[in-house]
Formats: sequence, structure tokens, C-alpha cells
Amino acid sequence: MSVGTSGGGETGHGHGCVAISPSVLNADLSDLRGEVERLGDTADWVHLDVMDGHFVPNLTFGLPVVEALLARTAIQADCHLMIENPDQWAPAYAQAGAAGVTFHIEAAHDPAALCRVLRANGARAGIAMKPGTPIQQVAQFIDDVDLLLVMTVEPGFGGQRFMADMLNKVRQARELSQSTPTAVWVQVDGGIDEDTIGLASAAGATAFVAGSAVYRATDPASMVRRLRAVAEVHPWRPGPGARNR
Ligand code: DX5
Ligand code: ZN
Repeated sequence: MSVGTSGGGETGHGHGCVAISPSVLNADLSDLRGEVERLGDTADWVHLDVMDGHFVPNLTFGLPVVEALLARTAIQADCHLMIENPDQWAPAYAQAGAAGVTFHIEAAHDPAALCRVLRANGARAGIAMKPGTPIQQVAQFIDDVDLLLVMTVEPGFGGQRFMADMLNKVRQARELSQSTPTAVWVQVDGGIDEDTIGLASAAGATAFVAGSAVYRATDPASMVRRLRAVAEVHPWRPGPGARNR
């Protein structure tokens, strides 16, 4: 069984304009492939948190692990790179077949050029912002991105509390995304669960990372379905002619 293979629609699953992206950070990493397969066909993407111990104080896994997973599963990998110097390291994740590669604006030297390289390698280009980073820092790159990631916790660890004061930045990201003809995903990451996903969705988020809410549930696949049902109460539809990648 695999995730992200049923095809069709903007998200790859035909679920419409909402993408649920479970993070494996708090899954059983000794059985990464098994943990991904436990989601069955319910998740749109699978969120892979790459941390280098420098950009964030935690260290997880890198390219060899992502490549191994992509070689053995058909997941739509949503790679979140919490690393220094993404200009050098991010393109390899796109070349490995990741569906999306998101780097941090705080770490990138030439964000526009990096987005172009990611897109040229067939991946969605994403830019992430830490909670303290204002939306203005990404505004000039809106025509280059496919996804804006508003961190709703300080990056580095799963299981933290959702920062409700980030909802305003989600609204700003949604507004910004509507200033470009290409549909841009607005993603939230950190503390997303059945209670907070509706707030993020109402503020304009369309892509949702959920780590502990999914992997600490007794039935992760049914939790993914529950999260999607709540998010879809407020689905943000792109304008006519816009298309999500
Ligand atoms: C945190 C990571 C998140 C994390 C989310 O730095 O980027 O993706 O796995 O975990 P939860 O959903 O538990 O906050
Ligand atoms: Zn993440």
C-alpha cells in the first residue's frame, strides 16, 4: 500500500483544495516505511522534517533517508528543510523526487533562484517563516513560490502548543497569495489538531501539517480523515484560472 498514488485533483487525491500532510517526526522512526504505510491512502502528502542541528537545535534525518523512502514508497513527499544553506542542499531533494521542497527564508541566500531550481526539478517550491519572521520578508518572492509555510510553533520539535497569534500571519499569507495568478498553498505547521485546524483553515490555510495529532492517535488514518473534514468546512478556493501544483 502506498500514500499519494490515487491521482487526480489538485492535491493528487482529488480531495479538493485542502492538503493534509502528516509529519513523521513523532512516528516510530525505526519503521519509517511502515509508519507511512499505516496512513494507507488517506494522506495527501507526507511531511518530512529535515533538521541539521544548526538551523534548529534538533537533528533528524537527511537526503539518504528521504531517498530510501522515496525509492520504496509512492508518497508525495512534502520536505520541510530546517537547515542552513538550503541553496546548496535543497535541490537534491527535488531531484530525488520530492513533490514539494520547503526551505526557510531566514536561511536562504537567494530565495528566488532557489525556487526556480526547485520548480525546474519538478517540485513545488515552498518558503517557510519562523514565528518571529514577518510576512514582508517573503512578499517579494510571491511569484516564485507554490507554497508559503507559516510556522505555528518554533521549529525544532513536535508536540508543542499551537501559537494562536500566528493566525494573523496566515491571513496575511492568504492575502499575499491572492496577489499572484498562480494558486499558492498556505501551509501551517505546529500544534495542528482537531481543535486548531479549523482556526487555521478559517484564517486562510489550505495545507496542514499534523505530527503528534496523527501519530499519537490510535488510528492515524482515521485521524487524517477527521482533520480533513474539519479543514474542509472553510476551504479556500483559488480564483478562476488559478491552479495548484
Ligand atoms: C516542527 C516540525 C513539525 C512537527 C509538527 O519543527 O516542523 O512538522 O513535526 O509536530 P506537531 O504537529 O506535533 O506540532
Ligand atoms: Zn515541519
